[in-house]
Amino acid sequence: MTVVIPSVRPTAPSSPDSSSSVDAAHHASALPVSFRALRRTFGNGNAAHTVLRDISFDVRRGEVLAILGPSGCGKSTLLRAAAGLDAPSAGSVDIDGTPVQGIDSRCAFAFQEPRLLPWHTLQANVAIGLPKGTSVKQGKSKVGRLLELVGLDKFAKHRPREVSGGMAQRASLARALARNPGVLLLDEPFGALDALTRIKMQDLLLDVHAAEPTTVLLVTHDVDEALQLADRIIVLGKEASAGQETEHDGATIVRTVDVPGDRPRNRGSVELARMRSSLLASLGVDGH
Ligand SMILES: Nc1ncnc2c1ncn2[C@@H]1O[C@H](COP(=O)(O)OP(=O)(O)OP(=O)(O)O)[C@@H](O)[C@H]1O
Ligand SMILES: [Mg+2]
Repeated sequence: MTVVIPSVRPTAPSSPDSSSSVDAAHHASALPVSFRALRRTFGNGNAAHTVLRDISFDVRRGEVLAILGPSGCGKSTLLRAAAGLDAPSAGSVDIDGTPVQGIDSRCAFAFQEPRLLPWHTLQANVAIGLPKGTSVKQGKSKVGRLLELVGLDKFAKHRPREVSGGMAQRASLARALARNPGVLLLDEPFGALDALTRIKMQDLLLDVHAAEPTTVLLVTHDVDEALQLADRIIVLGKEASAGQETEHDGATIVRTVDVPGDRPRNRGSVELARMRSSLLASLGVDGH
């Protein structure tokens, strides 16, 4: 898992300079997010390829929302639009009522691959996430607290090559949280981990969410992970309409599911098992 640090440029040519973004230091608590009629088409003319269309949904302040969908349907593209790393072709994303225009420092973005800077200690890697203008004293205390939160306080001086993949992921999560993000965007954050470590990371994310209130958008391929972590799940896919070929029309929201029950949830619950089968069916995987 890795965070996008402010020096990364957006890919969309129309994105304004990141200097217009709101100061991250002022966003210590969870923010609501609204997607409004979002569409993303790549290419022009005959080569135009619509990936996402008619995406409208609201994410409540502090909600954990999971996004499921087949590979290539546009999940990462959707998260990138929320972070201002990619500009939609139409529609908009608002965070706390303000449109996202260019890289938005109210968000922290973490991915599947651990990309900690190898020459830095874990402590220094986490400190990279601190908002601009954080004093040395405040920064030290915040980094110390986050390392403790993710169980790495004893490894603060270790370098990434000296820790396991799961520990590196935890450091990356701490780095994302160091920004005080109002919105935490997680793109398959535990996808590269073994099954046991993944479950531990899911539990850790719940602890982190309780300790550091933030809104979470979680892209995952793992239906069980979505059912464990999310308040709500949206499923992206192509809608077949009246026998029309929709292959080139882009994915939209085909289903929204409220997940009942307080977290942590019983992994063996009959209700979750039923929802799992039903979600897998929505993803085109029957009989599980
Ligand atoms: N910058 C780009 N230029 C052209 N096409 C792009 C660009 N970014 C994404 N795409 C296309 O958009 C589609 C959706 O990509 P995206 O990465 O959002 O899918 P995804 O749902 O995250 O897939 P996966 O589950 O495999 O990660 C793909 O067909 C991809 O090739
Ligand atoms: Mg993706």
